[in-house]
Amino acid sequence: MQETIKILGIESSCDDTSAAIIQDGKILANLVANQKIHSTFGGVVPELASRAHQQNIIPVVHQALAKANINIEEVDAIAYTQGPGLLGSLLVGSSFAKGLSLGLNKPLIEVNHMQAHILAHFIKDNASIPEFPFLCLTVSGGHTQIVLVKDYLKMEIIGQTIDDAAGEAFDKAAKMLGLPYPGGPLIDKHAKDGEPNRFQFKSGNVGKLNFSFSGLKTNILYFLRKEKEKNETFIEENLADLCASIQKCIVDDLLKKLSHAAKEHNIKHLAIAGGVSANSELRNRLMALKEEGYFPHIPKFEYCTDNAAMISIVGYYKYLNQEFGNIETVPNPRLKF
Ligand code: KG4
Ligand code: ZN
Repeated sequence: MQETIKILGIESSCDDTSAAIIQDGKILANLVANQKIHSTFGGVVPELASRAHQQNIIPVVHQALAKANINIEEVDAIAYTQGPGLLGSLLVGSSFAKGLSLGLNKPLIEVNHMQAHILAHFIKDNASIPEFPFLCLTVSGGHTQIVLVKDYLKMEIIGQTIDDAAGEAFDKAAKMLGLPYPGGPLIDKHAKDGEPNRFQFKSGNVGKLNFSFSGLKTNILYFLRKEKEKNETFIEENLADLCASIQKCIVDDLLKKLSHAAKEHNIKHLAIAGGVSANSELRNRLMALKEEGYFPHIPKFEYCTDNAAMISIVGYYKYLNQEFGNIETVPNPRLKF
């Protein structure tokens, strides 16, 4: 058995360019270049994202190697995001990874971005590590899934959104409140000073394990329109209460479905992952489930939103299984697992 395994991870599925080095499950470097340009447009502009990835990818990989204090020749394999994500963005990371693999004669490892969010829990500096089988509520800008995780690379989706993702619901609500993109973290921030029971909003009713957030968007839109007719400065005057009430509605729904899944599958270890798992209300309320006999797990803050550390940990487990990819594999914006 090889003594130490070092993997270079590359993430470029949406609007963050990231590179990480992992050594035997321990992160040596995890660099993320955020693309500020999209906030001007109120959402990610795919063409601008791929151009920014092209500019960022070489400096980010260089900085990751420098931070980890290793030479590129010391890397055992190159793991990259194959999908899901934006095609143009995925193409930049995958082409770069393939070029490196050919040039250095190192194996390539293809990584599913959604699996990576979940396996971020196994990076060694997290506060706790889930035991198999566990349930993971993966909540990001593009996905909302309840996943039954049987092993590192064996997982099954048992519930998901039928329309908007939870992160998308946060971002669209924020936009209606006049907050810039991405609005999720800003709703979280303003909600801290607000009263969550002041306004009643409703998410869709689509069964015990699935989610629907597109009706919530319309619900908020009509409510704000009506209130603004009476008082033009309604949003400004009630921003904190609005944020707290919207956040409560989304988090209530997420946790209700997760609890249902936990009872149905008789599973005690519960995890959250993806960008929305950075939400303080969701984190606090998941941790409070300890009192009900559950073992809750929240990832370290920097492993919630998109990052390459999570890509490199999947790379590490695939390397141990000798699951290598090849140069012919194309990125897949709708990749499933
Ligand atoms: O996983 P991620 O970084 O990218 C995707 O794969 O989509 O998730 C981004 C999403 C955005 O919708 C963003 O608003 C949301 O995560 N997000 C949050 C928070 N931090 C990020 N939503 C609510 N509260 C937060 N603190
Ligand atoms: Zn993500």
